Amino acid sequence: ARQVNGRTAAPAVAVRASRRSLRCEARKVALLGAAGGIGQPLALLLKMNKFVTELALYDIGNVVGVAADLSHCNTPVKVAGYTGPEELGACLKGADLVVIPAGVPRKPGMTRDDLFNTNAGIVKGLIEAVAKHAPQAVIEIITNPVNSTVPIAAETLKALGVYDPKKLIGVSSLDIVRANTFVSEARGLDMKDVDVPVIGGHAGATILPLLSQTTPAVTFTDAEKKAMTDKIQNAGTVVVEAKAGKGSATLSMAYAAARMAESTLLGLNGEPNIYECAFVASEVVPEVPYFATKVLLGPQGVAKVMGMGELDSFEKAALQAMIPQLKGEIQKGIDFVKNPP
Ligand code: NAD
Ligand code: LMR
Repeated sequence: ARQVNGRTAAPAVAVRASRRSLRCEARKVALLGAAGGIGQPLALLLKMNKFVTELALYDIGNVVGVAADLSHCNTPVKVAGYTGPEELGACLKGADLVVIPAGVPRKPGMTRDDLFNTNAGIVKGLIEAVAKHAPQAVIEIITNPVNSTVPIAAETLKALGVYDPKKLIGVSSLDIVRANTFVSEARGLDMKDVDVPVIGGHAGATILPLLSQTTPAVTFTDAEKKAMTDKIQNAGTVVVEAKAGKGSATLSMAYAAARMAESTLLGLNGEPNIYECAFVASEVVPEVPYFATKVLLGPQGVAKVMGMGELDSFEKAALQAMIPQLKGEIQKGIDFVKNPP
C-alpha cells in the first residue's frame, strides 16, 4: 500500500485490509463520554473497525440505550454499556486503549480555554480511574482544552505512580483531517493523496499546519499560505458558530478519532511504519514539555517522537509566536494538579 507521511493513505481500513501482513489481536477499547456528540458516532466507527474486538462504553447518562442500539449491528465487536462511577472500573478493566471525549463543548463566543473550569476536573477524575483500573492502557484525550487536559492527565498519572509518556496522547488528528481536506479542495487534488502535517497544539495560533511539507508538494503565495493557515486554525470555531449553541465538531471529530484509534491499535499489534501527528510529551521544542508533531506508533504506544522537519520562514515565525500561549496553557494544566487553587 502507498504510504503518505509514513502512514497508509486514507481510507485507512480499506487500504490496510488489503495488506497481508496485518495482524488482528483481541483489543478492548474503552470510550469515556460515549453517549455524547462525539461519543456516539465514534462508537459506531469503532463497532465497524476490524481491529477492535471489545468496545466498552461509559457515560454518566444515556449510555445503556446507546450500547443496546449499537450492539444490534452485526459486526463481531462485543459492546457493553457502563454508567455511574461504580461501573467505571469494570468498563476500564483490561482495556488496551482508552479514548476520552467526556466533557462540555464550546458555545459561540467561547475559547477552548473557557472550558477549562468544567473539563479539567472531569478529565482528572476519569484519569484517576484509568490509573487504578487500566494502568497499562494507551490513553487518548479528545476533551478540550487539549493543550491543558493532556498535562492534567500526565500530572495525575505521575502522582499515582503510573505515568508512561508513551501511553498518553492528545488527539489533534482533526486538524490534520481538516488541513488535508482544505488543501485538496484548494488545489483540486484527490483527497486520499494529500497529507499535511500539523504541529504545535490544538487551540487557535498553536495549530500550525506545515503547508511547506504537504504531500504531494504544493505551492502557495504568502497571502494564500496565511489564508489557508487561518482557515485551518479557525475551522473549529466555524463549526461552533454554525451549530449556534448546539455544540462543536462531532462527526468530523469522530472520523478523526477513529483514524487515530485505528493507527494506535495497528501500532500495538506490531504493524510497522504507522505515523500520526499527535500532542505528546516531547523535547522537539525546548520551551514546552508537550508538543504535537508526527509520532511513530508501536507496540507500547508512542514508539518515537519525530522532529518537525524543515520549516519555511512563515512557519518559523508562527512557531515562535505560538510558544507563549502553548506554554501558558500547558502550565495551567500542570498547576491544576500540582498546585490546586
Ligand atoms: P457532548 O456534550 O455532546 O458530549 C460529552 C459527553 O460527555 C456527554 O454525553 C456527557 O454526559 C459526558 N460526560 C460528562 N462528564 C462525564 C464524566 N465525568 N464521565 C463520563 N462522561 C461524562 O460534547 P462533545 O461534542 O462530544 O465534545 C466533547 C469534548 O470534546 C468537548 O470538550 C469538546 O470541546 C471536545 N472536542 C475536542 C476536539 C479535538 O480536536 N480534540 C474536537 C471536537 C470536540
Ligand atoms: C475543534 O477543533 O473542532 C474542537 O476543538 C472543538 C472546538 O471547540 O472547536
